[in-house]
Amino acid sequence: MAYRWESDLTDDDVTPLSSFINRRQIMAGMAGMGLGAIAGPVGAAAGLDPNTWEEITSYNNFYEFGTSKQDPAKYAHQMTTSPWKVTIDGMVDRPGEYSFSDIMSKMKIEKRIYRFRCVETWSMVVPWNGFELADLLNMVGVKSGAKYVSFETLLRPSEMPGTRYNVLAWPYVEGLRLDEAMNPLTIMATGIYNKPIPNQNGAPLRLVVPWKYGYKSIKSIVKITLTDIQPPTSWGRYSTNEYGFYSNVNPEVNHPRWSQASEKRIGGGLLARKMPTLMFNGYEKEVAAMYKGMDLGKYH
Ligand code: MTE
Repeated sequence: MAYRWESDLTDDDVTPLSSFINRRQIMAGMAGMGLGAIAGPVGAAAGLDPNTWEEITSYNNFYEFGTSKQDPAKYAHQMTTSPWKVTIDGMVDRPGEYSFSDIMSKMKIEKRIYRFRCVETWSMVVPWNGFELADLLNMVGVKSGAKYVSFETLLRPSEMPGTRYNVLAWPYVEGLRLDEAMNPLTIMATGIYNKPIPNQNGAPLRLVVPWKYGYKSIKSIVKITLTDIQPPTSWGRYSTNEYGFYSNVNPEVNHPRWSQASEKRIGGGLLARKMPTLMFNGYEKEVAAMYKGMDLGKYH
């Protein structure tokens, strides 16, 4: 399988899972023996070692199911994901309700191995399966004059115990500028490790915007609206100065309450406790041009 991004790995790095785990255990062992200094090249490669299925699916943020990292894995199975419909409306040529199976029959599913950086300073590397959001938007036809895309998550309190609490205003909403939505790195993920995406990770389809903090990557999407005004976001409503609309990963712009200069790779052991955070999460070449001339501190 050919990969389109320099930052992607080969199939060998993803499968089989067991060899990956062994490799990492060896690295952890080296660190334990004080051999970290000679692990330079290995450590560098570790920057894109995919996390395990277990890590990716048991340490989650999906506040509709509770605020602890374990709640989504515990409760998200209660969410009914079939049948599933996505309403696509606003400034589009062909608005309507599109069934998930209809969308899947028309989209080209690819594998993308991306860094994933949460604003809370933990990170993972996830081998997603999915399709480019641009392909879906082109399918429905974006009207000229549209400038933003807004997204909404399912809100079904009977299946989502966390929505009893007003930690966030429900439903969870997010938004992108149209050029960001059309960027080829932006995908709608429908799988992980070639398996359907589990509920706790946002089944049956969720956004993945790898150069932005994880909260932009909204899960279990039921509505997509094309608009000419900047849409509200759930975390922006919670605290505008802490969670800006852009939320591009940026080691030089700190969260008001903590530094964003480094991150902890989940499951990475001692070698990965304070990895330097990369500008645009390592996707600078692919995305920096979209923000040319913008003050990234102001438009954080
Ligand atoms: N989407 C919804 N609907 N609800 C959420 O609470 N959490 C966000 C994002 N998408 C969230 C969401 C945050 S803060 C992160 S870091 C990622 O999902 C976590 O994705 P993961 O659990 O697949 O790692």
